[in-house]
Amino acid sequence: MFLHNNTPEYGTPMLDIDAATLGVEAAVEVERFLTFRDNHAPTPLISLSALASRLGVASIHIKDEGHRLGLGSFKALGGSYAVVRLVLEAAEKALGRAVDVQELHAPEVMRVARAMTVACATDGNHGRSVAQGAQLVGAKAAIFVHAGVSDERVAAIARFGAEMIRVDGTYDDSVREAARVAEERGWTIVSDTSWPGYERIPGLVMQGYTALVREALRQMPERPTHIFVQSGVGGIAAGVAGFMAAEFGGNRPKFIVVDPARAACLFESAKAGHAVRIAHGEPTVMAMLECYEPSLVAWRILSRVADGFMTVDEADAVSAMRALATPLTGDPAIVAGESGGVGLAALIKATCDPAIKAALGLDEGARVFLINTEGATDPEKYRELVGATPQEVQAGIVSHCAAEEK
Ligand SMILES: Cc1ncc(COP(=O)(O)O)c(C=O)c1O
Repeated sequence: MFLHNNTPEYGTPMLDIDAATLGVEAAVEVERFLTFRDNHAPTPLISLSALASRLGVASIHIKDEGHRLGLGSFKALGGSYAVVRLVLEAAEKALGRAVDVQELHAPEVMRVARAMTVACATDGNHGRSVAQGAQLVGAKAAIFVHAGVSDERVAAIARFGAEMIRVDGTYDDSVREAARVAEERGWTIVSDTSWPGYERIPGLVMQGYTALVREALRQMPERPTHIFVQSGVGGIAAGVAGFMAAEFGGNRPKFIVVDPARAACLFESAKAGHAVRIAHGEPTVMAMLECYEPSLVAWRILSRVADGFMTVDEADAVSAMRALATPLTGDPAIVAGESGGVGLAALIKATCDPAIKAALGLDEGARVFLINTEGATDPEKYRELVGATPQEVQAGIVSHCAAEEK
């Protein structure tokens, strides 16, 4: 399903605070911070030209965040960056002077970090980022996971030395529980979603994501005309759309937010004209996108600068994973996890529907930018859905039939 943005705020400028959070100056600083990370390297931008011809657009470029900072998803950019910023701020307060990221491992800064505990709720990827950030600075991490988070994903977070706390119920329940326990124990919540009275830290998390947009713009031969980004609470979509709006104003690319049909909180908010909390339905295979309420700040941005909202079905997401694993001749294979290929799923849907295609101007002049937001962060699930291991796909030894048969 597709919906134009008809909210009352659409087309009005972003609030100054959001434009500053996601503007170029902040994004330059994010990239400077990244240069102090051991395993930092820009992720690949991959051109899928055979697929672009098949879909009748000029080009498709997909940023492969499966390679980000050893964590397998773009989330590596947000949580860990926010943790570093918070530790530096705490050190500044304690030491009574400015403290730069270069001093992160100075004994007096590490002493401050050791006294801090950062906490968050997660579907998997954000928690990994926060835990990695905490390990990097020498702080403690407490990560809350709901019943649906797979044991593999929990183990991947625990590897960074985080204390893992299982919570009954859904993601939203884990968010509330994390906030409650943190308040009680004096921990710092580093959430990727925001709510009334809690905006700044999620803003820093979104600010961290802007690094991938600047990288992509440097890697792309020409600026895109269309961007499709998948959403959970809307943080990555708002990070990308907000940066584009701050950088290019009215000349920005058309921006489409993509939700799973089973957890379409942004789509339903767009329909209602204001942020809404939706009822829980069946779980979605797009596990990282299973959120039922938009982030307050993300909605504030997207209601102004997103041009449209789409939903994709379960089968669309799995088909996109397979299409990326077994590409058309000439295009490289990409390992995309269950939530990774969702932007592509929406593009395919949009180009196959004459009404959406025309509404968005997805013609032979369209240059499309997508983000593979995660690699195979749950390798067993990946094998089950794609019919091959991530290693086999990477090595290009998967036949179309293997994926088709599944
Ligand atoms: C792989 C992946 N893609 C997309 C998203 C959606 O991001 P957001 O919740 O910021 O909208 C997430 C969130 O965890 C994710 O892990």
